[in-house]
Amino acid sequence: MNDPESGTLARPQHVAIIMDGNGRWARARGEDRHIGHQAGVRATRRVVEACANRQIASLTLFAFSSENWRRPPQEVNSLMELFLVTLENETAMLNRNDVCLRFIGDRAAFPPALQEKIAMVEGLTAGNGGLRLNIAANYGGRWDITHAAQCLAQEVEAGRLRAQDIDETRMHAYVCLADQKEPDLFIRTGGERRISNFLLWQLAYTELYFTDTLWPDFDETEFDQALRYYAGRQRRYGRTGEQVEQEGGGDV
Ligand code: IPE
Ligand code: IPE
Ligand code: MG
Repeated sequence: MNDPESGTLARPQHVAIIMDGNGRWARARGEDRHIGHQAGVRATRRVVEACANRQIASLTLFAFSSENWRRPPQEVNSLMELFLVTLENETAMLNRNDVCLRFIGDRAAFPPALQEKIAMVEGLTAGNGGLRLNIAANYGGRWDITHAAQCLAQEVEAGRLRAQDIDETRMHAYVCLADQKEPDLFIRTGGERRISNFLLWQLAYTELYFTDTLWPDFDETEFDQALRYYAGRQRRYGRTGEQVEQEGGGDV
């Protein structure tokens, strides 16, 4: 149990998920990959509501990586369409659950209609004080870090910062999600054990959970299983187990 003082199972405040396996789920049914992505949206809705009901503060979902442009144009186009339709259909659900939606990643590459819809739903949910739902779309961990380095370089160029004053705290301020706690729990469905250029900076001390379950089959029961895995971890942040037992948990 990673929070011995509370007496209850410790809950992550921030969960980050690579939602993988839609294509294989569809193929196993003799269906087109698009059907798998549609089923993936239903799983996403279940998990968003599960997080909202469990008072989890932040949920970050990998929806489209900077590498996913390499897929066949037909699949990329149908995903863009699916994002648009899903944003349209799910705004009411987000508001009902008090969810505040934000996209992270380079959205400039998306079709203008999708960019507009993203900005609109972000605006419509901005006042919600419940779950912070971050959708990583055209996101890459290396892009994120490179972008932060560019911002810092601009500060130096403008004479507002000295190179020797750049430290981890300053760097952290410029990567995505700096205003939220770093993910406590990372989940990847679909059987692969890799990070695939997701939150490289932010996952430095995150607990990693992998399951073979394909994303469209992921549900509340599976989510609770991941939460139990998390509750069983001892987060040491470099210290010894004995130190953590004496001093209590808590990050560095
Ligand atoms: C994840 O499922 C969804 C996206 C990357 C958009 P995949 O489409 O990668 O599913 P598999 O890995 O082919 O089964
Ligand atoms: C990672 O899944 C990206 C998303 C879930 C959006 P992929 O299925 O694209 O990952 P790789 O390329 O197999 O590692
Ligand atoms: Mg995949």
